[in-house]
Amino acid sequence: MKAEIKGIGMYVPPRVLTNFDLEKILDTSDEWITTRTGIKERRIAEEWENASDLALPAAKEAIENAELSSKDIDCVIVATSTPDMTFPSTACFLADKLGCSKPMAFDISAACSGFIYALTIANSFIKSGQFKNILVVGAEVFSKIIDWNDRSTAVIFGDGAGAVVVSASEGESDILSAKMKSDGSHWGSLYCPVGEKLKMRGRETFKLAIKSMETASKKALEEAGLTLDDIKLVIPHQANIRIIKALAERLELPEEKVFSNIHKYGNTSAASIPIAMYEAWKEGRFKKGDYLLLTAFGGGLTWGAIVLNF
Ligand code: UT7
Repeated sequence: MKAEIKGIGMYVPPRVLTNFDLEKILDTSDEWITTRTGIKERRIAEEWENASDLALPAAKEAIENAELSSKDIDCVIVATSTPDMTFPSTACFLADKLGCSKPMAFDISAACSGFIYALTIANSFIKSGQFKNILVVGAEVFSKIIDWNDRSTAVIFGDGAGAVVVSASEGESDILSAKMKSDGSHWGSLYCPVGEKLKMRGRETFKLAIKSMETASKKALEEAGLTLDDIKLVIPHQANIRIIKALAERLELPEEKVFSNIHKYGNTSAASIPIAMYEAWKEGRFKKGDYLLLTAFGGGLTWGAIVLNF
């Protein structure tokens, strides 16, 4: 059985926080944020909005695009570092809000790599014959764990959700390879103690991000038996435009083969790849039958890459 991405959806809260808004509350500037990160604005959830609230419209759209109903979903996986509660899982809340028929539902915690970790799990579930239609979501409300007095992190992160439906199919579409890794010895580069705010050693994280995504991308390509020439579009985690450009340089990729929408949303952690994938798809940057490379990096440290035939 093959694992086909049958539908995609996304949702971001309407409230926009621009670099100019941040200039008013922090010792920063639009010029610094733009040149150092590529970010111009990000979305911020309302006080009452949790990860499952952002996940709901994204999931509904993905299910609709897959031409399925929520009753067809037999497993829900939510990748998030900002869950609604410690437990129950955000996936349980989401499945209930969607009106699913008692699917297996659980969250995974792999920070910014969460979505590709979740997609790897979904792929294995489909290939083992365990499930037919799996909803995979990345949903984050990082605004709730940001220290709004810390200019080194407050300017970077944003809120949002992206979702895909992965279905068992017999066509050409498939997840061809998935290389996921972690190294807990670097946990101090990026972390958030329970009940506290996020902390990051930016420069250290920056260097580790480029190297690890480059290595994982090459390994995933090799395992899929493909080269970068076969890839229609690379969709990297949206952490910093300089990281994305450095990765493209190391992989010797022309700019048009690498997608970025970081200027609009900042770093939405586990939601960044499905949001980017959705927008790239809507813009016609890839279609059924095209090969994609997804790669991410985040706290843990965690990182990885996936090659798929869309
Ligand atoms: O999502 C997965 C993991 N996260 C990442 O991959 C993030 C990786 N790191 C980064 O993207 C970058 O390291 C940052 C954007 C966080 C920081 O950029 P940088 O070029 O590495 O800056 P820096 O931390 O080396 O700081 C340079 C200067 C410092 O001032 P001094 O010491 O040179 O006087 C900072 O205090 O910039 C200062 N600075 C700021 N200035 C204005 C730090 N944040 C700001 C700010 N506005 N918001």
